[in-house]
Amino acid sequence: MAAAPETAGTGKGLIGWIDERFPLTKLWKEHVAEYYAPKNFNFWYFFGALSLVVLANQLVTGIFLTMSYKPSAAEAFASVEYIMRDVEWGWLIRYMHSTGASAFFIVVYLHMFRALLYGSHRRPRELVWIFGCLIFLLLMAEAFMGYVLPWGNMSYWGAQVIVSLFSSLPIIGGTLVEWIRGDYNIADPTLNRFFALHVAALPLALVFLVVAHIMALHEVGSNNPDGIDIKKYKDDKGRPLDGVPFHPYYTVKDTLGVAGFLMIFAAVIFFAPNFFGLFLESPNFEPANPLQTPPDITPVWYFTPFYAMLRAIPSAFGTQVWGVMVMGAAIVVLFFVPWLDRSPVRSIRYKGPIYKTMLAVFSVSFVILAVCGMKPPSGIYPILARVCTALYFAFFLLMPWYTKFDSVQPVPERVTGHA
Ligand code: HEM
Repeated sequence: MAAAPETAGTGKGLIGWIDERFPLTKLWKEHVAEYYAPKNFNFWYFFGALSLVVLANQLVTGIFLTMSYKPSAAEAFASVEYIMRDVEWGWLIRYMHSTGASAFFIVVYLHMFRALLYGSHRRPRELVWIFGCLIFLLLMAEAFMGYVLPWGNMSYWGAQVIVSLFSSLPIIGGTLVEWIRGDYNIADPTLNRFFALHVAALPLALVFLVVAHIMALHEVGSNNPDGIDIKKYKDDKGRPLDGVPFHPYYTVKDTLGVAGFLMIFAAVIFFAPNFFGLFLESPNFEPANPLQTPPDITPVWYFTPFYAMLRAIPSAFGTQVWGVMVMGAAIVVLFFVPWLDRSPVRSIRYKGPIYKTMLAVFSVSFVILAVCGMKPPSGIYPILARVCTALYFAFFLLMPWYTKFDSVQPVPERVTGHA
């Protein structure tokens, strides 16, 4: 009798056929069905899955917007109006994308805050955190370039302010700015390259980094609200006693988080898509006008904490370079958090009063900075911004000292049940 061909199926149907050629079931088991996550995830653990949902929303709605958008200074503004008025469901797609941008930052800020609460950045998850910081940096670039595309008056002047910041760099500043703009002014070539970066280069890099972020996490396993290692106690099959398979436990739980999120997201899209001028600013409903500056040039809310830091530093000797450096340092410092935190425990549950106070002061300062960045730089605001910039940096730069001397509580051996 002739031997069965080597590629004969295993009798498992289509999945079996695919598995012989591609590790589909293997990947599913490794990353979902047999990925053992700590059983005590709480509310704060919704935001990783939600970041994925918002990313998917931005990619899909972005593709549809690109079908009708025209990346040219002469046509961009009108093409967005066309999407809003004439394209079937165009208004919904555009509002899903513009509200999605703000939702992305809300979700990612809360996701990062969770890491600071439970010490998720600590060994062995330093790379998970670093990939996260790179994602955050790219996300800012992606959002900035997206904001320029409708070619409204705030798009134009926002781009003008942000791009000219590079001119404060010594020696190369002027040439660098010209190179970024592709012209002597913010103009058609600038819009064209921002479009290319916004729809192709940056989303590709973002998706790549998100895959790396999750692969790094799955290599070492998830942290949890107790900040303790669940791999210490395993059953006879090698499964962590305090772990549950991601599917179905967390796929079901995350569905609840996604449903809650979608309700709020839909409410904003349908009832307040501009969100009182915070998500879409009123000057952006007028076309770009190089001859007319908007009364206050302010970035969208998610950039305002960093913008406030930039303005908080006085421009000495006619250069803004110190403000630019402080703003850059505010992001660079994030990369070092895994090494700045010297506490013997990970989670805030077992950290002492100093860390708790510092984190609270830091969070309040960040919100105050966001408000200062939205207000004109006069009256109390520049002073508030300076104090809060100092508090922002104090949280990070004094961390090696206060986390070492802060008191800690005994950490339990096994994860605790409470949320
Ligand atoms: C597109 C943006 C992002 C996506 C899609 C994303 C996705 C995820 C997912 C799905 C998880 C696992 C679920 C969870 O623990 O919540 C996770 C964990 C994590 N992410 Fe992100 N993330 C993003 C941005 C960031 C940023 C900006 C940071 C920090 C700078 C960050 C830091 C972390 C850390 C430290 C963990 C491990 C948490 C733990 O085990 O406790 N992520 N991320």
